Amino acid sequence: MNDAVTGGGNEPSPYLADLYRANLHPLWDRYKRITPREPKPRDTPFIWRWRDTEPLLHRAVSEVPIEEIERRALIMTHPNFGGDTATSANMLGAFTVLDPGEQARPHRHTGAALRFAVQAEGAATIVNGRWCEMRSGDLILTPPMAWHGHINQSNRRIIWFDAANMPLLCALNAHFFEAGDPTDDHFWKVDAGEERIWQAAGLASPEAATVPGCSPKFHYPGAATRDTLAATAAGADGSRTVRYVNPATGGAVMPTLDCYAMRLNADSPTRTRRGAYTSMCLVVSGHGRSRVGDAEFEWGPNDVFTIPSWHWVTHQALGGEADLFIVSDRVVFERLELLREEWR
Ligand SMILES: [Fe+2]
Repeated sequence: MNDAVTGGGNEPSPYLADLYRANLHPLWDRYKRITPREPKPRDTPFIWRWRDTEPLLHRAVSEVPIEEIERRALIMTHPNFGGDTATSANMLGAFTVLDPGEQARPHRHTGAALRFAVQAEGAATIVNGRWCEMRSGDLILTPPMAWHGHINQSNRRIIWFDAANMPLLCALNAHFFEAGDPTDDHFWKVDAGEERIWQAAGLASPEAATVPGCSPKFHYPGAATRDTLAATAAGADGSRTVRYVNPATGGAVMPTLDCYAMRLNADSPTRTRRGAYTSMCLVVSGHGRSRVGDAEFEWGPNDVFTIPSWHWVTHQALGGEADLFIVSDRVVFERLELLREEWR
């Protein structure tokens, strides 16, 4: 191609300069960027270690009064996003800390979110008028536009892991937020309500309230997850993995967030796989090692690491079994017919 077409050296050709002035770009010099051969995530695999995060959570309690803020959460922020508050391309991961007697104001938003109870015995999340206790390993969903608030009625400090899809919704300009009335005491005076309908597997009420596209069950007890993992056979990758599902459909729990519990066997690595979606992994128990692309992480309880799109991944427990809680945007790609996975 001649210089008029390519621009030649550092200076744009007169023709290119005219294009730029007219707010037009040629396809020919940038089609590889616009139509890459495969996903090219901005972020590298990354790990936030509990030994670094935990002391900063405790400092937040003494330095940031809950009365002055909406929520006392520390969001794991990937340095590759240039200061944008995002953990992975489409998701946020955070830890929230609440002292005894503290509560986080009710609100709702189009973003889908969830909590995973790390040290949360005695706290509760209220979701659409249902009281959801938070015991070790419990998963609590706050589906899009579901009213939710949190309260710590125990006599100890509470910490849980949060995940949400605000980066995706903000990229789509689809995020709406509504604050609840902080003086409305009725919000907190509820019981489990319709959550009781969905406590047992194999039973469904056709009359139960639903949130479109979301699981009608908001509370997935950790004890049931651990029992199910223990009874589950190893899958094709060598791990025992269960997916949290909508009991009414068998699909993902929410339209944009997809959750899995994975139990790794001692000293046997999982089969290497990659997928065109992103995941955040919270270490629930045990120790191990993961290779994600060219990165290798050794991890322990409450560490969080990310798996960017299209990176080969293998996990291995060390010195005993290990459990991971994995939240991903896999279902977004599934619903858009864009899901692609490979094994090696
Ligand atoms: Fe929220």
